[in-house]
Amino acid sequence: MRVLGIETSCDETGVALYDTEHGLLADALHSQIAMHAEYGGVVPELASRDHVRKLLPMIEQVLKQAELSRADIDGIAYTAGPGLVGALMVGASTAHGLAKAWKIPVLGVHHMEGHLLAPMLEDEPPEYPFVALLVSGGHTQLVEVKGLGQYKLLGESVDDAAGEAFDKTAKMLGLPYPGGPQVAKLAEQGNPTRFRFPRPMTDRPGLDFSFSGLKTHTLTTLNQLKAAGTLDDQARADIARAFEDATIDTLTIKCRRALEQTGLKRLVVAGGVSANVRLRERLCEALAKRNIKTYYPRGRFCTDNGAMIAYVGAQRLVAGEHDDSTMRATPRWPIKDLVPPQS
Ligand code: KG4
Ligand code: ZN
Repeated sequence: MRVLGIETSCDETGVALYDTEHGLLADALHSQIAMHAEYGGVVPELASRDHVRKLLPMIEQVLKQAELSRADIDGIAYTAGPGLVGALMVGASTAHGLAKAWKIPVLGVHHMEGHLLAPMLEDEPPEYPFVALLVSGGHTQLVEVKGLGQYKLLGESVDDAAGEAFDKTAKMLGLPYPGGPQVAKLAEQGNPTRFRFPRPMTDRPGLDFSFSGLKTHTLTTLNQLKAAGTLDDQARADIARAFEDATIDTLTIKCRRALEQTGLKRLVVAGGVSANVRLRERLCEALAKRNIKTYYPRGRFCTDNGAMIAYVGAQRLVAGEHDDSTMRATPRWPIKDLVPPQS
């Protein structure tokens, strides 16, 4: 089955073609980062309008890339949530409109299920069951995955997501949006021993996270240095390093705990923050000696993309699941509400 995947939940337009027999055939990605940069974050109305501009030409582009025509497409998958409602509606209405015109099934899929299963697009995909750490701009979650749609939420952030904390820290340090990669770059020049920031909620049992206190700690440190007149470029880099170390350590400790608790030997790390090189190194170092294998999507598929949506949609469409004639756009949609494919 050949499935067209459409992702428009936030600030990336992603389109891809996935074949259940031959794998990924084509994918195209347009990032709106430059457009939102001057506002310091995503402007929802601008995001929706840009998806409208880019989506149809990108669909033509992937068909051309794969040397296929509309008649070769057997189904369409789109991100139905969670995300920005206007942005989601662009993908949902386009997907439903095309499916009706082309007389093929269409299905709205969960954005985080896309991230969760993005490593399935790699040459050595993980086998079920595994533990997944989902770290994006909107979510920080640990999930026990037994199979497609069999997800048990083990823990999540009670306030800010890890990516959000990176973005807010970047803003405090005067770095542009999106902040994750910028903080990581600045941290390379930082001295790891100058500051030690707290590792929130690691001193008590449980698998939940909290990053808002860490953000406040960063701000307080910055203000103290500012007041003392010692906030120079090196101090900024040292703060970036202390923040990154604290976040990565916290994520690593909770992953180790989740693996111990479930007894599982495979860890999937996905979502935008999984692109962080030092997070990967730290997890590798902490888990290799415990005989735990870690799986990531390739760099391009860590952040939002159409390939992960095409993949998830294909797995569910092939099992007979599809939308009725109503398009779906669900800004808030807990991953624990997902179930295995329903035909
Ligand atoms: O998954 P994603 O593209 O969008 C959401 O679904 O939220 O994740 C975007 C998030 C942003 O917060 C961004 O700052 C963060 O991922 N991010 C990173 C890195 N690359 C992206 N955070 C830390 N280090 C990185 N290298
Ligand atoms: Zn995402």
